[in-house]
Amino acid sequence: MSSTNQHAAATLESKGSPLTVVSRPTPTPGPNEVLVDVKAVALNPIDCYMRDFGFMINSYPAVVGSDIGGTIVAVGPSVSFKPGTRVAAFAPTFFVQGVPDYGAFQAKALIPATNVTTVPDNVSFNEASLLGMSVVTAWSGWYTAGLPLQDNLYTPADKKGVLVWGGASSIGTGAIQSAKMLGFTVYTTASPKHHAYLKTLGATATFDYKDENAVTKIVQTAKGDGIDLRIAFDAAGQVRSCLDILKEFKNAGAGRTTPQLATAVAMSDHTPQEDGVEVKFVAAPTDERARTEFFAFVMNRWLRGKLENGEYRPSPGIKVVEGGLEGLNRGLDELKGGVSGTKLVVEV
Ligand SMILES: NC(=O)c1ccc[n+]([C@@H]2O[C@H](COP(=O)([O-])OP(=O)(O)OC[C@H]3O[C@@H](n4cnc5c(N)ncnc54)[C@H](OP(=O)(O)O)[C@@H]3O)[C@@H](O)[C@H]2O)c1
Repeated sequence: MSSTNQHAAATLESKGSPLTVVSRPTPTPGPNEVLVDVKAVALNPIDCYMRDFGFMINSYPAVVGSDIGGTIVAVGPSVSFKPGTRVAAFAPTFFVQGVPDYGAFQAKALIPATNVTTVPDNVSFNEASLLGMSVVTAWSGWYTAGLPLQDNLYTPADKKGVLVWGGASSIGTGAIQSAKMLGFTVYTTASPKHHAYLKTLGATATFDYKDENAVTKIVQTAKGDGIDLRIAFDAAGQVRSCLDILKEFKNAGAGRTTPQLATAVAMSDHTPQEDGVEVKFVAAPTDERARTEFFAFVMNRWLRGKLENGEYRPSPGIKVVEGGLEGLNRGLDELKGGVSGTKLVVEV
């Protein structure tokens, strides 16, 4: 592809400015990269932090956005994907600190081949855009909690459980589905209107997080089920509640490994702590080689297989924000106002 080709991109010209749609040169993929024709992007809270506060942006202009559904149009020489392949892609904008070629919010984006999964024909581009951040963050949580990168970790007979606090969030739905597929019994909290849906994704028992007895009920249910509940994924910044549940299991069961809480919401000096329970921020491996292998496992292998056999379903529900790239600012403002069991998607 000639470097004189141009495509539309929603760029950030300076810290805190709104996104502006401009024409920019279309890049050529490097050896291990693919160029994706972006058909749909899903909006994530980090996009708002990057737009509004310059979070993780090194220089301007920048292009942000992480979640893509689209089609591969060109590949680097070391890549086995073929042009024409329909994909879900996790754009590495956070890791490259906003370098324009790698952001999702444009019509053509460069993506490392490790961050791409092929999607079957029955998964729409809008649905494909839901996958990257949700699935990668769920797996980052399991990695943070010390689980190996491996499928079929347990069977129900092992009686291992996880708690997903905030199951109706985008990343919470990914955590529920992946935990269930790893063989865990899944307990989750959400508004009651989402309980039936979350059970279809794999939750065994659902609890209303606004119920003041939610913590007690979760502990009693897991103990009643004979489940060893030592791992929690917190998608909603509710560390205290998660610790109050995990601490009830720290001396129970075989092995007596330290309970692990992986929280996806930023930690601070004020983050609650609990003796005998480890709390860590959800993060993919920081070492670049380990991170490359992590992405290849999650996107190229695990997710691809689960989509092909129909086990994994893009989640949660979709609300399309009209206006294409021009609609992104409105979508991000709507996201800041809060969503419930919904992912905002922009068709490019
Ligand atoms: N560390 C990382 O790598 C990483 C990656 C992605 C996201 N994050 C962070 O993770 C958080 C979730 O992101 P997201 O995109 O998945 O969010 P989201 O989909 O916008 O989350 C909205 C959902 O949060 C639920 N919720 C709000 N307060 C809750 C509470 N107190 N208890 C339980 N559920 C609650 C709501 O549930 P109901 O509808 O049931 O009321 C709502 O459905 C954000 O803070 C985001 O910045 C971190």
